[in-house]
Amino acid sequence: MNFLLEKGGDVEVVLAFKDTDNVNESNDLFSFIKEKKLFKGNEGEVYSHLFKDGSYLFLGLGDERKLNFQGIRKAFYSLGEKSQKLNISSLSLNIPKFGELCYTSTLKAVAEGLLQSQYTFEKYKSDKSEKTPLEDIFLEVLEEKVEEVQSGIAETKTIMEGVFLTRDLVNEPAINMYPETLAKAAVDALTPLGVDVKVYGQKEIEDMGMVAFLAVSKGSEKEPQFIVMKYNGDPSSQDTLALVGKGLTYDSGGYCLKTAEGMATMHSDMAGSASVIGGLYSIAKAGLKKNVVGIVAACENMISGGAYKTGDIISSMSGKTIEVGNTDAEGRITLADALWYAATVEKAHKIVDLATLTGACVVALGSVNTGAITNNQALMDEVREAAKISGEPVWELPHDEEYKELFKSHFADLKNTGGRWAGAITAGMFLQEFVNDTPWVHLDIAGTSYISGARGYLPKGATGVPVKTLFNLVKGI
Ligand code: BES
Ligand code: MN
Ligand code: ZN
Repeated sequence: MNFLLEKGGDVEVVLAFKDTDNVNESNDLFSFIKEKKLFKGNEGEVYSHLFKDGSYLFLGLGDERKLNFQGIRKAFYSLGEKSQKLNISSLSLNIPKFGELCYTSTLKAVAEGLLQSQYTFEKYKSDKSEKTPLEDIFLEVLEEKVEEVQSGIAETKTIMEGVFLTRDLVNEPAINMYPETLAKAAVDALTPLGVDVKVYGQKEIEDMGMVAFLAVSKGSEKEPQFIVMKYNGDPSSQDTLALVGKGLTYDSGGYCLKTAEGMATMHSDMAGSASVIGGLYSIAKAGLKKNVVGIVAACENMISGGAYKTGDIISSMSGKTIEVGNTDAEGRITLADALWYAATVEKAHKIVDLATLTGACVVALGSVNTGAITNNQALMDEVREAAKISGEPVWELPHDEEYKELFKSHFADLKNTGGRWAGAITAGMFLQEFVNDTPWVHLDIAGTSYISGARGYLPKGATGVPVKTLFNLVKGI
């Protein structure tokens, strides 16, 4: 999709708020369709009038007083969808300044919405949807903002490439996406952008002492991989942010086997690691002047004679011992070593982890908010701000000391389950035991990274959440 800051395009888009009688262009046609109640101006509503001598798409923006960037993204997403259905390949758009909304951010939201409409995952379908891709978007923008808008849109394109990369990795079934192919995908996507990607296999993981991570991977025939991706955007600084992603390329639950239904989408249990890869892709491609290290402990949670069992007590790279209360609470065990590595080997100054960690988080927040736990309010505020401007809401959960009682073990230092109550909290607080006091935010993306039906501009399946947040976090800190 090309964004051209000039006049042109086959079909003119007319923007209209709900219940208004005015549109930017004075237009008889608008009065007519309003009068006939063919168009109300609801958010994302599109009315088409396509004729040889003049073609228009009317796009509703909803209530003028409530307009925000998320609404703009959604409206332009539906404009993109509709245009493709109608075989329109170019649009003409004139974007005014809306009230107090930042003009460049408005255009970034417009571009994002249109780009969002382009995503499909059809590689396994014989009958591909025959949409005409929207190719050229001609934009008339405020003259004094042209340069700023140009670079804002370029940035948006780069972010969306990372989002789409993440979606593709997560949507890929586990038969093809296993630790080695995930590692290869990281190498292929990131090395051309100057990111240093190192992949460690079974032997090296053993040498590093990651016994907790290895315990989870034991039931699988697939070799675990430890992936470290270094982007050095600011060589003058020592500061490094670690992004640690849960990388379960499949989670059967292990001996605490999931139900058939619970297992059906568990190829998406590596969404955290895919977000790290997609986020780093966008960060490196945009050339952000920050140092970021991505860390992924990738494996499968399976069953075999060699698999770990409930009641096992395993050690970890940190030396802390873990009683396995449930083999299905495997993510926190793999992350224990990945986080310890981030804090003590990479000596990261800040850590953000991303994990499809708990069903409890989905129960609490559904697929709208990502759950968060932190040991550092300043970093939490930065993440919250980045999430807000990205339209990827995050809700912080409490972490009172009292919750720690729930995952104490009688025979070991910690237990990997905390019982039925406060499951998202105890899982997050378990992770905190392995960050060695480094400022840290944990994001539980179990509900937000993969959804059962399309919502707004998010497609069914992998959403790419929270890649936009990671980009804006790194850009902002
Ligand atoms: N990968 C799952 C969490 C999950 C559930 C992600 C639903 C996406 C959708 C995780 O490994 C898991 O199984 N967690 C258990 C923990 C429990 C056994 C303490 C859960 O949430 O049931
Ligand atoms: Mn599990
Ligand atoms: Zn899992």
